Amino acid sequence: MTDPQRRLLPLANGHLGRSAMTCRYRCGNACDHDAPNTSDNPYFGDLLDAAVSRRGVFQAGVAGAASAIVVSAGIAGANPVLAAGTAAEPGALGFVPVPPNTLDTVTVPHGYKQHLVIEWGDPVLPGAPEFDVEHQTAEAQARQFGYNNDFLAVLPLNREFTRALLVSNHEYTNEELMFPGFTTPEAMTTEQLRIGMAAHGMSVVELVRTAGTGRWRVLMGGQRSHNRRITTSGTRFLVTGPAAGHDLLKTAADPTGRWVIGTMNNCAGGVTPWGTVLSGEENFNQYFVGGDGAPAELRPSLQRYGINVATRYPAGNRRWDRADERFDLSRHPHEAHRFGWVVELDPYDPSASPRKHTALGRFKHEGANVIVSRDGRAVAYSGDDERFDYLYKFVSDKRMMPGDSPQARAHNLTLLESGTLYVAKFEFTSAAEIDGSGTLPSDGGFDGTGRWIPLAHGDMSYVDGMTAVEVLVHTRIAADRVGATKMDRPEDVEPNPYTGKVYAALTNNSRRGASGAAPADEVNPRDNNRHGQILEITEDGGDQTSETFTWNLPIVCGDPADPASYFAGYDKTRVSPISCPDNVAFDGYGNLWISTDGNALGSNDGLFAVPMAGPDRGHLKQFLSVPIGAETCGPFITRDNRSVFIAVQHPGEADGATLENPASRWPHGNYAKPGVVCVWRPDGEEIGR
Ligand code: FEO
Ligand code: CA
Ligand code: CA
Repeated sequence: MTDPQRRLLPLANGHLGRSAMTCRYRCGNACDHDAPNTSDNPYFGDLLDAAVSRRGVFQAGVAGAASAIVVSAGIAGANPVLAAGTAAEPGALGFVPVPPNTLDTVTVPHGYKQHLVIEWGDPVLPGAPEFDVEHQTAEAQARQFGYNNDFLAVLPLNREFTRALLVSNHEYTNEELMFPGFTTPEAMTTEQLRIGMAAHGMSVVELVRTAGTGRWRVLMGGQRSHNRRITTSGTRFLVTGPAAGHDLLKTAADPTGRWVIGTMNNCAGGVTPWGTVLSGEENFNQYFVGGDGAPAELRPSLQRYGINVATRYPAGNRRWDRADERFDLSRHPHEAHRFGWVVELDPYDPSASPRKHTALGRFKHEGANVIVSRDGRAVAYSGDDERFDYLYKFVSDKRMMPGDSPQARAHNLTLLESGTLYVAKFEFTSAAEIDGSGTLPSDGGFDGTGRWIPLAHGDMSYVDGMTAVEVLVHTRIAADRVGATKMDRPEDVEPNPYTGKVYAALTNNSRRGASGAAPADEVNPRDNNRHGQILEITEDGGDQTSETFTWNLPIVCGDPADPASYFAGYDKTRVSPISCPDNVAFDGYGNLWISTDGNALGSNDGLFAVPMAGPDRGHLKQFLSVPIGAETCGPFITRDNRSVFIAVQHPGEADGATLENPASRWPHGNYAKPGVVCVWRPDGEEIGR
């Protein structure tokens, strides 16, 4: 189990628990730059509320939400993953937690087994060549599983759930770990740049279940008609919604403003109640150069999205412009407007163009997750993952059509094309007590109320001085103007399909409370927030379309021995340490599962589970850990509770590591490769029980 090469990740740079390589390749060294949000919208909510305890309101909100009706539609009739209704009673999670460790392996609890399902370079399209790390080509990569798997979904292909589709995002690439003899990004050949583009995007892969178990493997051979690769360079996306066809989206290559080649930096995502997959385009800024040559009127918005408008070739840039000139904003300034969207893919229709939905706004979408309101509308929640950026919600105009008829599927594919986009503003019960230390307020909770502030609906803008299209393309600026609450890097935001309560992972914020930056507030209660927190939102009246809500922080992450950590009041001597929550998911009991990215406590990242109801609320346990340098992504628990899928992303990502001198040798003992792991119980029992 123990790899002799194991070593602690270096923690010497200024990027919390991340290696400098992570920072460069993942987000373009975002932490080295000022946070792009320089707006002066308020740090605090309405201070009038500070004197008024709203605990009573909060309790009532919880009671209301308990009766919320949740999703049951799409292909739910045939679909053990999407089929919903009433969760089994939540209860204690039965596994013995995995201790924090720095092993170069995936560690699972006693009584569980794991299996590597697919890894970087495995054939996806029939006829794809076998992976050859010494002789990789862009053509081969475009037919093989991409790099740095992130979001995962496992969707049934039959009623018995013995066949399924695995859908994976491929967020970014680590060229230093991909190419033999790698020296610097500047020395890469254009073919290597094209390999990187082809290793981004998404994959759809047919799986088969090993009969009677929770173990799944890739189907080899046969037609595999659903298998698909979506890349930055080779897939056409249809643009939908109010900004489709607008001048801001037109380029020389696409004078219609309605078709975009490719997607990139796809991070988290979600499965819609109608059986499609959503994927968030996140740190797209790092792929562009030439911001200094962009038209003056566009530079403020480019800058607000983290694009350098002072330097032609910013340090750390991937220089994709060397392979495709559209990434040079001095020549194609609108190209940046064509990324930063939520994309929707119908994995059941391999011939359908995936779509970019402008009605959900443009920002660094971590992902998006949909729940259906009592009146049938699709409500999508999404976070903008940047220090001091915001939480958003979209409410569709149309109602979801139940069932799996061709008419229902066609109708439901239009749900995210029209609706209202909102941004969250939080108000507090204990504002006067928040001093940045993380000390729990005297009323017993970090909590309060909040409002969803409308930004745009169709061609109607609610933001002074901006048209609706401008709001959707420059959403960050619109949210600044309405005084949205600056958050600690909102990552995954996901409604619990059984209760309607919404959970957001706020991963960390190295600048919270720093000179010139927003100080701590009740929803972001710690200065120099190294470990992050989990936010629970309860929509008023249990109505997902409500414009008001109550909120609380059930978990303030960190070492349980740290007085500034909090686990819903549960006995802290019995919980696992957790740091930097990133992705969230739910099992069939409505328990919350949390994966981490950037553990600032010195151990490898992992996957954790915690009941969010009942007497065990807050009893958080570590379920698994991932190898050296990796983060845990895409947790997906099949709704039959027999399998947990995780994406092991960027194993071996550590300063100075290369293919020849790897920091991790997972999974095969030679060099590091990202891959997808399935965890199940050989005794046939349910996961977590
Ligand atoms: Fe790609 Fe916000 O993590
Ligand atoms: Ca409070
Ligand atoms: Ca993430």
